[in-house]
Amino acid sequence: MSRPRVYMARKIPEKIWMPYKDQWDIQMWPYEDLPVSRTELFQQLKQADAIFTTLTDVVDQELMDNGKHLKIIANMAVGYDNIDVEYAHKKGIIVTNTPDVLTESTADLTFALLLAAARRLVEANQYIREDKWTTWSPLFMAGTDVHHKTIGIVGMGRIGEAVAHRAKGFHMNVLYHNRRRRPDAEKRIGATYVPFEDLLEQSDFVVCMTPLTRETEGLFDRKAFQKMKHTAIFINTSRGGTVNEQDLYEALKEGKILAAGLDVFQHEPIGKDHPLLQLDNVTALPHIGSATKDTRYQMMKLALENIELVLNGKKPKTPVT
Ligand code: DGY
Repeated sequence: MSRPRVYMARKIPEKIWMPYKDQWDIQMWPYEDLPVSRTELFQQLKQADAIFTTLTDVVDQELMDNGKHLKIIANMAVGYDNIDVEYAHKKGIIVTNTPDVLTESTADLTFALLLAAARRLVEANQYIREDKWTTWSPLFMAGTDVHHKTIGIVGMGRIGEAVAHRAKGFHMNVLYHNRRRRPDAEKRIGATYVPFEDLLEQSDFVVCMTPLTRETEGLFDRKAFQKMKHTAIFINTSRGGTVNEQDLYEALKEGKILAAGLDVFQHEPIGKDHPLLQLDNVTALPHIGSATKDTRYQMMKLALENIELVLNGKKPKTPVT
């Protein structure tokens, strides 16, 4: 019997896929730092029983229609807005993601970004490197306090809750907004559910943790920024598509809000000429929310475990439903 064909749309370390090399016919895009081209993915899909994707791979109807034997799309990310899940399900293709294993690392990075934006860490680091430091002075690099302030988390899923835990350690008042109210999380962390507009009005830090869906696309727009405090800091480690970047740029430039910490952008990667990078009150990172070696290895392993289960006719560990 021929071995199932598995296409890896990104090169990953050999030690991760080695355990499967006898069971599967593994084909792999040869670059770690370059996404697979659409043409290549299209070609590969013709023969593949399973594909391993990352968030840079758009898997739409046209591609799926080319995948005559395709049984599973295993996305190495908790987010899956790069995949037309509805269509996959219509065709009986299973989609999986990698939740849980990245929760704590992503929450760490979110909080690090919040602290960096509030205390101007990147700006201060740049200042000293440019040899501009002349003396200590009373208001030099004075930022914003984090402790005892109000944080508003939009999207109280696993990562949102982990961010809330960290906020509690800083004695913050935690507000949240979510599609569904989460009484379990409220009890565990002492968070208060509020309507979206109230969260915007009351929070010192507005943190976007919601997945990108039809409902959340462009959620943070001019109207939303106008509702925020002038001293508010906006943090996004979820998906760039939840934000109208032109509106964010104007809000930051006109002082409608104080600062932003952004790990994600509408079109990635952004270049140095992106308008948001022209502003001193923006701390920007290149989508590294879950980027620790341990976490990334776990994400890869989980994606491959899901493929193994599905190819053996079993239920995957983390299906997208
Ligand atoms: C995810 O998993 O969705 C992250 O954005 C990738 O690190």
